[in-house]
Amino acid sequence: MNVINPIYYAEEGIKQINQFIKTNNPTKIVFLVDENTHEFCLPQIISEIESESEIEILEIESGEVNKNLYVCINLWEALTELKIDRKGLIINIGGGVLTDMGAFVANCYKRGVSFINVPTTLLSMVDASIGGKTGVDLGSHKNQIGNFALPELVMVDPGFLSTLSKEQILSGFAEIIKHGLIADEKYWKEITSLNGIHLEDMDDLIRTSIEIKKEVVSQDFTETGLRKILNFGHTIGHAVESFFLEQGNPILHGEGVAMGMIVESYISVKKGLLSELEYEDIKEYILSLYKKIDIKEDYFKEIFNFMQNDKKNTNNEIKFVLLERIGKAVFDVAVDEDIVKQALRNYNQL
Ligand code: GLY
Repeated sequence: MNVINPIYYAEEGIKQINQFIKTNNPTKIVFLVDENTHEFCLPQIISEIESESEIEILEIESGEVNKNLYVCINLWEALTELKIDRKGLIINIGGGVLTDMGAFVANCYKRGVSFINVPTTLLSMVDASIGGKTGVDLGSHKNQIGNFALPELVMVDPGFLSTLSKEQILSGFAEIIKHGLIADEKYWKEITSLNGIHLEDMDDLIRTSIEIKKEVVSQDFTETGLRKILNFGHTIGHAVESFFLEQGNPILHGEGVAMGMIVESYISVKKGLLSELEYEDIKEYILSLYKKIDIKEDYFKEIFNFMQNDKKNTNNEIKFVLLERIGKAVFDVAVDEDIVKQALRNYNQL
């Protein structure tokens, strides 16, 4: 089995999509978009697609609250009404919500139709759309339902980033920071020496981040071990994100992950792994970019409930990915609740 999906950039990506269509001659092509990618990205892509196949467009509403099974059912019904058969092709154009859900919808419909991911947010380019994870939320539990399914290919076009807000860029940038912290000290130094976050730097950063993720995923596609390191910052981050989603006050994924990386770096120090000095560097850098999230003591109980449901846990223990040093992560570290609470309190006082 292919361990990672082929990833192509910009014009080469369009060329490869056209090649796939020419070779496979899909009965129909369905573009799955949200209201933003419908307006800002689809026209360009459609104008470059060379195909005789009939084209359909399905639009969903953007936002994490729409990443659920109800929307999937609507999409499966729409695909059925459109008479999409197993030789159809679904092209997912959007951010992490859309590519995660679109991949899941494609992979379950009639036991699987081909799909292509075209990530249009930084988050989706460097993380969500690559590596073959699909998923939707169950209530406030993030990505609780999903599977592993590889797209035929992924087309990454950093040109789409110019349509994004600063917050969206910052959200994806948290995953770039994560890649440096877990796997590559040199990359971390490169990131932290940048003078702010600028679109002109993104092309190189995206390529390096994708290489790091590919390297990890190709060693452990179904996340039985090493791939867990990609969840650094996410045990806390996902729980906090789920908590605020449940409150009807969602935060961006990257904001949760940025906060989670500070808290989990602190836990790494408390577990005798990371040095205080490196923790200070991580904390200072992340706080220079991301606003602090107010985590009141009253929220802890609910946040722990979400953490207990984390997919990395076994035997009712909360398992963390921690840092041994910048550039080296370890996984499956059980951490006492008291240390986690101490780390959350420490974050609050920053
Ligand atoms: N987003 C983490 C992973 O793909 O494994």
